[in-house]
Amino acid sequence: MTTILDICTLDELPPGGKRLVEWEDLEIGVFNCAGEIFAIEDRCSHDDGTLADGELDEAACTVECPRHGSLFDLRTGKPLTLPAYVPVETFPVLVEDGLIKLEVD
Ligand code: FES
Repeated sequence: MTTILDICTLDELPPGGKRLVEWEDLEIGVFNCAGEIFAIEDRCSHDDGTLADGELDEAACTVECPRHGSLFDLRTGKPLTLPAYVPVETFPVLVEDGLIKLEVD
């Protein structure tokens, strides 16, 4: 069953901003990449690095895993560089009335 999570207002997550959301046993990183909001599982597929702690590149829309440096595409969850090679999960984002929401299963 799909659940909609209220995250925060758009003002609270400006461009370049990121935040960590916990839901059940999931941790999800939410990123504002030059005005677009993306959400990916906050666990690197290589060795569980915390992606929300990584460096966000707004122009490329990527985040760099702080542990061993794999770059992940925030749009798709796919790693663009090694050592990670398995995608991480992405979550649909809704923005309604200035409020950021996530769809989780
Ligand atoms: S834990 Fe992310 S690249 Fe190794």
